[in-house]
Amino acid sequence: MPVTTEPSPRPALDRGRLSAAPGLRIEVLDEAPSTNLAVADLARSGEDSWAVVVTEHQTAGRGRLDRTWHTPARSALTFSVLVRLGVPDAEWPWLPLVAGRAVARTLNDAGFAAGMKWPNDVLIDELKVAGILVERVETPTGPVGVVGIGVNVSTTWAELPVPTATSLELKGATPDRTDLLLALLGALRADVEQWHTDGVEGLRSAYVDACVTLGQEVRVDLPAGAPLTGVACGIDSGGRLLVRTRVGDQAVGAGDVLHVRTR
Ligand code: BTN
Repeated sequence: MPVTTEPSPRPALDRGRLSAAPGLRIEVLDEAPSTNLAVADLARSGEDSWAVVVTEHQTAGRGRLDRTWHTPARSALTFSVLVRLGVPDAEWPWLPLVAGRAVARTLNDAGFAAGMKWPNDVLIDELKVAGILVERVETPTGPVGVVGIGVNVSTTWAELPVPTATSLELKGATPDRTDLLLALLGALRADVEQWHTDGVEGLRSAYVDACVTLGQEVRVDLPAGAPLTGVACGIDSGGRLLVRTRVGDQAVGAGDVLHVRTR
């Protein structure tokens, strides 16, 4: 495993290629507090699906469960995508899972052994390489999804915010960020289009296949109350994690999962 101490060169995103990407409207910002906030503003002002904001340096990145997301300039991909979902309301909880699995699939295609920790942390060797924050934003023309994705690309050990994180470079390769961004957007778009035409079932089983949490002994820190411990045994039709506990199966809709021991 390579140990990087000094950052490798960090080329800028190729704005020309991104602005020419078919079917996408990609805005590149040198610096932004949070791309999710920028895309939420675009959504409220009437923008349609596949508007994308990516920044070279996100200065106040937001994570799940009110956490922050910190990435040094040009070390990561930090971007958000506007998605107007044409699916029944009951299927909306699948958006974070579908987005996570699109990221894992893209990284797999690029040669990384990526899997999903429920709901949408992307792991390589049990270390987090990418995180996703999906927010539902009300607009005058109906609710939209803002899919925010952060991928650690060339982050060094010293720059990682926590020891349970990693970067693609630390896992052996440093993909070009422009190529990777276009691949991630292509995968997300293909999966959302599949969802619109075929329904969620195929994506559900693809998520289950990619989810490395299933079968593991877990502790789930819930938004309120005592943590739950047991064995992750399934994903229900609403995208919730099923945990087999001593008092029966419990469905978890939100929480932070720790893989206690691989079975
Ligand atoms: C998490 O794992 O807690 C989710 C992290 C999500 C970070 C991304 S970076 C781009 C987008 N903008 C934000 O402010 N957050 C998301």
